[in-house]
Amino acid sequence: MYEKMENVFVLDHPLLKHKISRLRDKETGTNEFRSIVGEIALLMGYEALRDLPTEEIEVETPVEVCMTPVISGRKLAIVPILRAGLGMVSGILSLVPAAKVGHIGLFRDEETHEPHEYYCKLPGALEERIITVVDPMLATGGSAVGAVSLIKEKGGRNIKFMSILAAPEGIERFHAAHPDVQLYVAQVDRGLNDDAYICPGLGDAGDRIFGTES
Ligand code: PRP
Ligand code: URA
Repeated sequence: MYEKMENVFVLDHPLLKHKISRLRDKETGTNEFRSIVGEIALLMGYEALRDLPTEEIEVETPVEVCMTPVISGRKLAIVPILRAGLGMVSGILSLVPAAKVGHIGLFRDEETHEPHEYYCKLPGALEERIITVVDPMLATGGSAVGAVSLIKEKGGRNIKFMSILAAPEGIERFHAAHPDVQLYVAQVDRGLNDDAYICPGLGDAGDRIFGTES
């Protein structure tokens, strides 16, 4: 179904599926959970950044001089949504170590499930950057929509969003609000429960990454 939605990419790879199953297991502890989130972010980043622009430079190999591509000077930024998005930063930074990192703090109201902003610090020259926003969970989509709106208000134009687990409701809402933003998800789950948690999901991603309890 999502193949028909422009800019929505559901990644389908046995390595991702296996790692997500480890995340789902409630017996998976903080240490393993955190490192798997980082590994998934790296694998997803590899796909999401496949359209990065390159330019040819001259390099002398031990055999001869040749022209060969490198990532061109476009500035990159990674923006995790706090808290859980922090778990995905290291994986993407290992692909693009020179990227700047911004932070957007949002928490969901337990009653309304709508996001509230409590922090925003973004790199300069946003309009020149390729910006990858990361959050492991796309549930109602409120946080993702809010974060991208904030980035656009501050000048961001070239934006991608990466999420490990998504509910169909979240994908629909995000795509309706920001059809220009490439959305990468590793797994689409059945839907949301009455508390707006993803089912079957993996629980509270922030709590599981940082070892806190709701
Ligand atoms: C979680 C998650 C997303 C949001 C998704 O964060 O990391 O940011 O919920 O839900 P939504 O799609 O319905 O907006 P939470 O608000 O629990 O904050 P935390 O990361 O600090 O735990
Ligand atoms: N946030 C989470 O951490 N998990 C969910 O299932 C929904 C929102």
